[in-house]
Amino acid sequence: TFLGIDIGTSGVKALLIDDNGRAIGEASAPAVEPVRPQPGWSEQNPADWWTATLDAVDKLQQSHGKALAAVKGIGLSGHMHGATLLGDNDDVLRPCILWNDGRSAAECGEMEQALPSLRKIAGNIAMPGFTAPKIAWVRKHEPDIYARIRKVLLPKAYVRLLLTGEHVEDMSDASGTLWLDVAKRDWSDALLGVTGLTRDHMPRLVEGSAVSAQLKPEFVSRWGMSGPVVVAGGAGDNAAAACGIGAIRPGEGFVSLGTSGVLFVSNETFSPNTEGAVHAFCHAIPDTWHQMGVILSATDSLNWLSRITGKKQAELSGEAEAQFIGPGEAIFLPYLSGERTPHNNAGARGSFTGLSQSTDTAQLAQAVMEGVSFAMRDCQRVLADAGTSINRLLAVGGGSKSNLWLNMLATNLDMEIALPEDGDFGGALGAARLGLCAATGAKAAEVMTMPPVRTTIAPDTKLSAAYSDQYARYRALYPAIEEARQ
Ligand code: XUL
Repeated sequence: TFLGIDIGTSGVKALLIDDNGRAIGEASAPAVEPVRPQPGWSEQNPADWWTATLDAVDKLQQSHGKALAAVKGIGLSGHMHGATLLGDNDDVLRPCILWNDGRSAAECGEMEQALPSLRKIAGNIAMPGFTAPKIAWVRKHEPDIYARIRKVLLPKAYVRLLLTGEHVEDMSDASGTLWLDVAKRDWSDALLGVTGLTRDHMPRLVEGSAVSAQLKPEFVSRWGMSGPVVVAGGAGDNAAAACGIGAIRPGEGFVSLGTSGVLFVSNETFSPNTEGAVHAFCHAIPDTWHQMGVILSATDSLNWLSRITGKKQAELSGEAEAQFIGPGEAIFLPYLSGERTPHNNAGARGSFTGLSQSTDTAQLAQAVMEGVSFAMRDCQRVLADAGTSINRLLAVGGGSKSNLWLNMLATNLDMEIALPEDGDFGGALGAARLGLCAATGAKAAEVMTMPPVRTTIAPDTKLSAAYSDQYARYRALYPAIEEARQ
């Protein structure tokens, strides 16, 4: 058997698969929610990922001890971009600055000025979500901490370090640092130099489907395994989700409604398009790349509405579904953590417009779900501008449990969306599959198959015109509101 561990922003999921790649059992442990010491900031303690990882795998041992004991390969998936700073003896120097932290906007501009070829080498714009600008911020604002940095790891590489004792990262996650030459699949000395770092500060690079290191003997015996157990390179959570749903060939993609929202598509070659803030990254298997549009608050927008109304997310989306007849007056811009695609503006903020005395929480929830759907439509537009066409789309992430949300997406993207049968595995299934490849040498193309589909959601053509009109209003609001906020 093989084990996938997905380190998510809101929790860790551990999933066991058998030798045929079928899910056997899963367990999860919640993470401590990110803290926001200032508006636009977002931090988490690496120690919490470790506690949740051990909790999740220990739970699997209780429920599926025999299958866990037979594990030969482990794959890791994790939320991307987070800057985990390690000093001497691998001590954690400060809380990790997360993917949805927007504090380093000024540093992004300075970095692009310092190295005019930055976008070309990195294949991406310097955006505050990426890792390197966070280090530039630490260099400026916390020079004592900066001076003590020996290694910078991404979240799942930190968990790998504790599992194996080695500093290693895979290509897909490394692409989100802004230190990788994404076409060459190697660290770039020029990019590293912009933040005053060298290759010595970086983990060793491996492909996601290759062996990265061996599980330490103490965990082999803790979980009753017979060893040796290899740990695969693994993947950033988005590339891992793609491996889990079999999106590895050109044009195969997914739409993810998780804390963040992602429109992901595989590419045959490295295909950058920095206009429109498209992300162009290595995929988790050799010689493959992918693009994605990323929005920072997908289910996190509903999460916010849930916090301020005191109603659970499922209750809100249920209310919205019960009274839904089509787009109404209220429009929501989901920029609660700023936005990446298409605006690249960490300072952008969310808004509701079109409220009246009769607006109720159901209508607010509907507007939130629509606003997120429009933001995904924006992502599709800029991917199309890059010449990319998506020919197959599956839905993943917690938000895909809502029928209404999927209908809105299918109608707005004007595409059929398939919903996998097996619920929401996130990156854990892809990670387990990468663990299988690393342990057995199996070919990724044979392992990364599409899961059985439960249902396919078609666009609701009766609502297409109404949604195109509402989308036009949505698009007009951003520049108008930004101008007023200046
Ligand atoms: C991708 C990104 C998010 C995180 C969420 O660029 O920042 O999707 O990976 O976990």
